[in-house]
Amino acid sequence: MATLVGGVTTSHVPAIGRAIAQNLQQEPYWKPWFDGFPPVRRWLAEVRPDVAVVFYNDHGLNFFLDKMPTFAVGAAPTYENDDEGWGIPTLPPYRGDPALSWHLIEALIEREFDVTTCQEMRVDHAFTLPLKLLWPDDEVCPVRTVPVCINTVQFPLPSAARCFRLGQAVGDAIRAWDSDARVLVVGTGGLSHQLDGERAGFINRDFDRAFMASLIDDPKWATQYSIEDLVELTGTQGVELLMWLAARAALGDAARQVHANYHIPISNTAAGLMAMAPA
Ligand code: DHB
Ligand code: FE
Repeated sequence: MATLVGGVTTSHVPAIGRAIAQNLQQEPYWKPWFDGFPPVRRWLAEVRPDVAVVFYNDHGLNFFLDKMPTFAVGAAPTYENDDEGWGIPTLPPYRGDPALSWHLIEALIEREFDVTTCQEMRVDHAFTLPLKLLWPDDEVCPVRTVPVCINTVQFPLPSAARCFRLGQAVGDAIRAWDSDARVLVVGTGGLSHQLDGERAGFINRDFDRAFMASLIDDPKWATQYSIEDLVELTGTQGVELLMWLAARAALGDAARQVHANYHIPISNTAAGLMAMAPA
């Protein structure tokens, strides 16, 4: 059976792409953020994943407001990135893993998650930048990938409890996959941020800290909140923390922290990073 080696959750602010392209990692603005990654990369070199299942939210590159699946799973041999207008370089295509994709899709539909299946799918900054942060030296991402997209851009959004259950179902399916592959789960987005409106720039350090701690101590903690609560507590785009919740849920009941970093701000965002392993 496949091995679920662990999970990484990280913010995906587009400006990170510019910082990488311009080699700004050691600048005072960027250093506290980029310094979080070497310990995670060392751990990845130890656990040697072959494939990453990436929970992320598309921001309009693949899905637009006219057609918005709640949950969508990629089932393509490759996934292309494209210019989204952020002024960051387009990254090379990502290798898919159709066998794992279809295994996940079948398992999810069996568990009554009626996902949209995408045999063609473009992946945006929320997918590409976290993988680039994990494997900065490889021009082409060295692991195969399966995108799992959760709608956090157009209401109604799936609840935190529902995203947690989706993550549990994905984790169970990975562990039951008849393969010797080593699988990493990744959750991208958050933490607290709001990009527009009256509360533009809103950040909630106390909530973010409590949320990060809860992923180890009490992983279902955030499922007590409605989407409206989460918008109130974390900002309109802070709800991207649903991706962290799904990735954590995939790891099973107990997980230990491998590494964590939290830094305010990157652009408009409280930027967080965690690496966790099943305990
Ligand atoms: C920013 C954050 C995001 O999560 C995103 O998708 C786009 C922009 C920001 O803080 O600039
Ligand atoms: Fe985002």
